[in-house]
Amino acid sequence: MSLVLDSVTLTYPDGDGRLTALDAVSLDVPAGTLTAVVGPSGSGKSSLLAVAATLVTPDRGRVAVAGTDTAALSPADKARLRREHIGIVFQQPNLLPSLNAAEQLQVMAHLSGRPPKAVRGRALELLDAVGLADQAHRRPHQLSGGQRQRVNIARALMNEPSVLLVDEPTSALDHERGAAVMDLLASLTVERGTATVLVTHDRTHLARTDRTVTVQDGRLTAEPVRA
Ligand SMILES: Nc1ncnc2c1ncn2[C@@H]1O[C@H](COP(=O)(O)OP(=O)(O)OP(=O)(O)O)[C@@H](O)[C@H]1O
Ligand SMILES: [Mg+2]
Repeated sequence: MSLVLDSVTLTYPDGDGRLTALDAVSLDVPAGTLTAVVGPSGSGKSSLLAVAATLVTPDRGRVAVAGTDTAALSPADKARLRREHIGIVFQQPNLLPSLNAAEQLQVMAHLSGRPPKAVRGRALELLDAVGLADQAHRRPHQLSGGQRQRVNIARALMNEPSVLLVDEPTSALDHERGAAVMDLLASLTVERGTATVLVTHDRTHLARTDRTVTVQDGRLTAEPVRA
């Protein structure tokens, strides 16, 4: 259950013209592997994730998620594909203010038809996995920025996605917590077989990834494979 981007070009309206955010980007992320995406601010990293998440439709090129070509899908089919196959961690945590940490995760599973007790159990297990077992009852304003980001990551894993897309998971965390989150993402990628793409500015964590690609002005270049 991999993620494939094939010659994807994405432009945004920009004054009288168009701004090319992604320029013929091709990327193949096999199941059970973690690909890091690095590059300067404004180079197209979040755009790449938005296209992979089927939230934005590219001008040209093909996006295949878990074997499904997304081009022909209706908006409703794309929403279902996202719900069933894609876990997304946005750059900005977007937690619901009135819900505690466990509930943030539980709402994700609302439509899956699983019994509430099992859903609650999985939510608590994932909060434990991100180091927040004792914070399950707290609402977002009672959590630190880093803790909110970890709730965000746990929430993305609730529906056992085959593709996991993560934007800057460590930027709000100190080095130790950042390393712990990277270890968690790396082990989850292997254990659950997710095709994981991770955008990061923090090059100190790249040793935990299988591969690193660089985005520069919307173009992708692979870094030399580590020995
Ligand atoms: N919705 C939008 N409409 C118009 N232009 C956009 C939009 N979103 C992004 N852009 C532009 O597309 C380019 C790529 O943006 P993107 O958000 O993908 O960069 P990024 O690599 O994620 O940057 P950062 O590291 O700062 O998050 C930038 O020039 C940005 O200004
Ligand atoms: Mg970004």
